[in-house]
Amino acid sequence: MAIVRIPEEGRTLKTKAAITEYLAGIGIEYQTWTPEQPTSAEAPQEEILTAYKKEIDQLKARGGYVTADVINVTAQTPGLDAMLAKFRREHWHDEDEVRFIIAGRGVFHIHPEGGPVAAIEVEAGDLIRVPRGTWHWFDLCADKQIRAIRLFQDPAGWTPAYTDSGVDGKYDPVCLGTSYLN
Ligand SMILES: [Fe+2]
Repeated sequence: MAIVRIPEEGRTLKTKAAITEYLAGIGIEYQTWTPEQPTSAEAPQEEILTAYKKEIDQLKARGGYVTADVINVTAQTPGLDAMLAKFRREHWHDEDEVRFIIAGRGVFHIHPEGGPVAAIEVEAGDLIRVPRGTWHWFDLCADKQIRAIRLFQDPAGWTPAYTDSGVDGKYDPVCLGTSYLN
């Protein structure tokens, strides 16, 4: 289950109902998925995509997504720092950013027009859809690991356009997930 923080308001949301409602209010779709058939976080891409086929097909039909793949990032991934540097600056895309988390953890910061920044910490089971044009940035948590299904309308559209607002520098990518409380 995700955790949503709104630092300016000193609020933290931890229930699915509160998270779904708040995110919908700033244009972000949030769902939790459970697989049609049991699978593991280490399963091959095809097995993962088959396990979540029903949910993927529903989203494809609604959002016009044509392709789905599985991205796997670990602390050992070559070029990881350069990759993360690209996405931790505030940006937007001409394409929706759709991610379903299979393993690992990360933080999306969403900067709604005229509203406070929201930090969404996602983990396994969370689906997030950031519509095209939404100002946002992304970081991994301390273990630098994430595996996620991505859906694309056109992969070519998914390149970052930077706002250069400097707002991203005011927020630490704090991860509150259970494994960090021990
Ligand atoms: Fe992005």
